[in-house]
This record gives sequence, C-alpha cells and structure tokens, in this order.
Amino acid sequence: MAEPTIAQRSPFRFDVTQGKSYWWCACGRSQKQPFCDGSHKGSEFSPVQYDATETKTVFFCGCKHSGGKPFCDGTHSKLP
Ligand code: FES
Ligand code: FES
Repeated sequence: MAEPTIAQRSPFRFDVTQGKSYWWCACGRSQKQPFCDGSHKGSEFSPVQYDATETKTVFFCGCKHSGGKPFCDGTHSKLP
C-alpha cells in the first residue's frame, strides 16, 4: 500500500451544506485541497465521498493519514 502525500499537517476547516456531496482527496496530490481534483489518476488512491446530512463546520484531514477519513482524528500530530 503506497503512502499518501501529506498535503498539510493540520486539518482543513470547512463549512459543509446539508444535502451536498463532497469528495475528499485521499492521495494528497490534489491542488484543490481538501478535495479531489483528479490528480490521483494512475495511483491506487481514490477519493472518499462524504454526504453532508446537516449544515455544519467540519475538519477534513489534511495529512491524509487519519484513521477516521475523511476527517481529522489527530493522527497528524503523531506523524514522523
Ligand atoms: Fe487525491 Fe483525487 S486528487 S484522491
Ligand atoms: Fe490528518 Fe489531522 S490532519 S489526522
């Protein structure tokens, strides 16, 4: 299993809208973080879909190593 690229070592705060779908970048290569821009093509990564069931502020994982993808679970603070 290839390691994802660390886009940033902190989460992306984002306001999601109820009823909308979001595609979180899992590979870390997207230029439109934290979302997929298609840059994963040719890799073993694919984006993670998140369907917002309410309008709220969320914290998407920026390091791409979270155990609770697509959200930050604090793993970024333990990365080497
Ligand atoms: Fe990273 Fe699509 S660009 S998953
Ligand atoms: Fe990835 Fe926090 S930014 S776990």
